[in-house]
Amino acid sequence: PKNDQDERLIGVIDAGTRTVQFCVFRTSHTKEIAKHTIDITTAVPQEGWSEQDPKEILNAVKSCMEIVVNGLGADLVKNIVTLGITNQRETTILWDKTTGEPLHNAIVWNDIRTDSTVDKILAKVPDQNTNYFSKHCGLPISPYFSAFKIKWLMHYSPHVKKALKTNTCLFGTVDTWILWNLTGGVHNGKHYTDVTNASRTFLMNIELLNWDPYLLRYFNIPESILPEIKSSSEIYGKVGDDWPLKGVTISGILGNQQSSLLGQRCLKEGQAKNTYRSGCFLLYNTGNQRVLSTHGLVTTVAYKLGDEPAVYALEGSVAVAGTAVKWLRDNMGFLKDVSKDTESLAKEVFNTGDVYFVPAFKGLYAPYWRKDARGIICGLTAFSTKQHIIRAALEAVCFQTRDILEAMNKDCGIPLSKLRVDGKMSENDLLMQLQADISGIPVIRAESEDITALGAAMAAGAAKGIEIWDIRSGEAELVPIHTFLPTSTTNERDARYKKWKMAVQRSLGWAVP
Ligand code: G3P
Repeated sequence: PKNDQDERLIGVIDAGTRTVQFCVFRTSHTKEIAKHTIDITTAVPQEGWSEQDPKEILNAVKSCMEIVVNGLGADLVKNIVTLGITNQRETTILWDKTTGEPLHNAIVWNDIRTDSTVDKILAKVPDQNTNYFSKHCGLPISPYFSAFKIKWLMHYSPHVKKALKTNTCLFGTVDTWILWNLTGGVHNGKHYTDVTNASRTFLMNIELLNWDPYLLRYFNIPESILPEIKSSSEIYGKVGDDWPLKGVTISGILGNQQSSLLGQRCLKEGQAKNTYRSGCFLLYNTGNQRVLSTHGLVTTVAYKLGDEPAVYALEGSVAVAGTAVKWLRDNMGFLKDVSKDTESLAKEVFNTGDVYFVPAFKGLYAPYWRKDARGIICGLTAFSTKQHIIRAALEAVCFQTRDILEAMNKDCGIPLSKLRVDGKMSENDLLMQLQADISGIPVIRAESEDITALGAAMAAGAAKGIEIWDIRSGEAELVPIHTFLPTSTTNERDARYKKWKMAVQRSLGWAVP
């Protein structure tokens, strides 16, 4: 294009756990030209519960779009060709298709209210095998996934019960809720999801990519409430009348961790990325092959571009990463500003003084899948300071990542030789150096904030009928990077990792009554 005025642009709705944002990208460029972000409130009505207001998410999407559109000006806005959506995964919303009203607050992915349901299911499966259903859906039995949340809502919410009787109930993850509303809502809104989001519900057959009749029967969930499963890159519909960018197509949908895998260009088998935000999610591209983990990882769909075969990933999910530092701020008063103070305080000490912090606030996800684990800080002495504990919180993120790398190396046979990283928390240089030292491989940081949104922009731009982004061309390989090399010896890092494992052992079983 001759100048910005001629260029084709792609908008992305990025609805994460803590924030909603709307970004606009230039085709084949990794840096957005405009963005606006709004924080989302999370309610904790009971210990371990986590809820959000689906209407607040929608209002935030609309406000972000309005602010960006007004800021860009009509000349650039007319160049926005299509939109992508990327979202926090597993979070479960049920609503009434005739009124458009949510039947309950959204139950957020990290909510553990379904603990007892999970216990009952585990008690019934042979050998209490957590992976009993993984041949169907690729996932371990855990409160993390949507089916358990749907089940809870069907059992406990009178509004859901009523809507099920009148056949007016719809289910969606956050992508589906946004798409349905964006494309008309009660007036024929499109009730779709994409394969990556569907692969996190516990209801999709991971091989056939359809709703699995066996799992639907097992959970007694009617297929009529579920969205149609689409690829991650195709035209799903157009923005409806009540929204900014009315008439613009929507042509890319990916769960946010899969979206950042695409944004990081991990398009080849064997490439992996780790995203550090409130949680931490390491995805390893396994190509068209579904690798069923025997070491506590999750099999998930990485992306499916239109009619092409699905690409799969192995995922290691860590529930608490940045959340541990926020806890040190909010509950312990150890620091004021997470972005500004964490690194400087942790650098005031040379090491953790042998303190280990396992932030198993809601149990441990991969590779342990132990919902009975609880947080533990051990190794304290009269010498320990808040600086040691803050540094131990950072190391906890790195040790949890090493847990996952070890599991991935065992599942895949070929050790990862480098780790691509992104996410707000990866801006912390000390954390990245600790990660390289604890894992023993180079850590390569993308110096671009919005890798997650970028993936959805790529998928939207590549969709058949849009075709303004060639995902496989090298042109978009321009993400500037920073590499952190390990400075530790194998002996040093293995000795420290052994201690971490001892700390993890102490955290397991703590929540057993
Ligand atoms: O599986 C949960 C994940 O999608 C949450 O990501 O970045 O919104 O915390 P984030």
